[in-house]
Amino acid sequence: MSQDKQNKLWGGRFTESTDAFVQAFTASVNFDQRLAPYDIQGSIAHAKMLTHVGILTEQECLQITDGLADILESIQTGEFNWSVELEDVHMNIEAALTERIGVAGKKLHTGRSRNDQVATDIRLFLRDQLALVLAELSRLQEGLVGLAEQHTDTIMPGFTHLQVAQPVTFGHHLMAWFEMLKRDAERFADCAKRVNVMPLGSAALAGTSYPIDRLMTAELLGFSRPSANSLDGVSDRDFAIEFCAASALLMTHLSRFSEEIVLWTSAQFNFIHLPDAFCTGSSIMPQKKNPDVPELVRGKTGRVNGHLVSLLTLMKSQPLAYNKDNQEDKEPLFDTVDTVLGSLRAFADMVPNIEPVKASMLTAAKQGFSTATDLADYLVGKGIAFRDAHEVVGLAVRLGTETNRDLSELSLKELQGFSAEISDDVFSVLTLEGSVAARDHIGGTAPNQVRLAVKDAKAFLAKTR
Ligand code: ARG
Repeated sequence: MSQDKQNKLWGGRFTESTDAFVQAFTASVNFDQRLAPYDIQGSIAHAKMLTHVGILTEQECLQITDGLADILESIQTGEFNWSVELEDVHMNIEAALTERIGVAGKKLHTGRSRNDQVATDIRLFLRDQLALVLAELSRLQEGLVGLAEQHTDTIMPGFTHLQVAQPVTFGHHLMAWFEMLKRDAERFADCAKRVNVMPLGSAALAGTSYPIDRLMTAELLGFSRPSANSLDGVSDRDFAIEFCAASALLMTHLSRFSEEIVLWTSAQFNFIHLPDAFCTGSSIMPQKKNPDVPELVRGKTGRVNGHLVSLLTLMKSQPLAYNKDNQEDKEPLFDTVDTVLGSLRAFADMVPNIEPVKASMLTAAKQGFSTATDLADYLVGKGIAFRDAHEVVGLAVRLGTETNRDLSELSLKELQGFSAEISDDVFSVLTLEGSVAARDHIGGTAPNQVRLAVKDAKAFLAKTR
């Protein structure tokens, strides 16, 4: 029997030692050590429950909880010696515990398996991370609402097909981002409900013959309930997929937002200024100030979307119950968490510092006949059918294009040449201010409505805080 075989916690039935490459290939400790605080939290609750039901003595329980607290400290100070031979975070900690406290350490694993242990650890980890994600999301939402409040009357062009379509207010545009993030927050909060279910007690797959008290463990760990089926308990990773799905959608939103910021900071748009702190220069072109933060967030969206597909593919066709495949769940999940938190933090810091260049926005809104729909609506008001009005305005736009003038720059006589119904009250609807103010209904761009939307959003954020 080799030395290596003896080191394994599961070495009993083996006669040969593990191939060195296989050992490294199957180990997860290099990445799952991140779960250590949660592994220890779960073990402490498990030990307390085992003591409560008479499987461990009070003395053993105290040795275990003290030993684990000690180990946590050595991990946090970086003194802990992680060993690839011990495969994963669970066995590293258990071996260290036994080394410290002797036989009581060997009793900790009574009535559980690494299968329910790891599923519990990931859920505890993700529960914490979800709280951070939700906090950063609401900080970003607050930034958006604050900026929108300052710009309820700031006019900019609204686009369809990236062509100037109709004037909107900058505040209204910002509140569109708020709405997307509000749905994202709802999705994360909903996901948190299913994350907060406890697999511990499912043991390897069938439950355990010990008289465990799962309600007690769940309560100690702050889970809303124990999982209802042991096979599902050890093998379910839906909650991680849901988190990645909510993350992919959030990142997709942030990538759209990023794209607009990149466009708007360009000299061609010049709609906004980003503070220097969020940009970087070029090593060759001295004049450059690049919007690196939004560009990078746009790029990082790809990996989060990829992680979602990784996890879906990981779970596809897996038979019940636990399979080693599931060890592959951690890296995509961890990277999703890190990427989402980093991107949210960058955006939450950046958004309140966006400065619109109002004059450029206004100039752009005046181009591209953005009040053409208003002229059509005006004609409808005079009794003309919308399709006919559309046709009339099309002819007026053609004259404007040919003579390089906006609709408001055509003379009354010229306009009347297209329709006798037009009189001099037409000019009030052709202004940008008149156009936005006219869209005065729930969800419209009128400054009045944007002020109401901002008020509702503030009340909503205050309630969720
Ligand atoms: N490192 C493993 C994982 O991440 C822990 C569970 C291993 N269970 C087993 N039966 N090999 O999934």
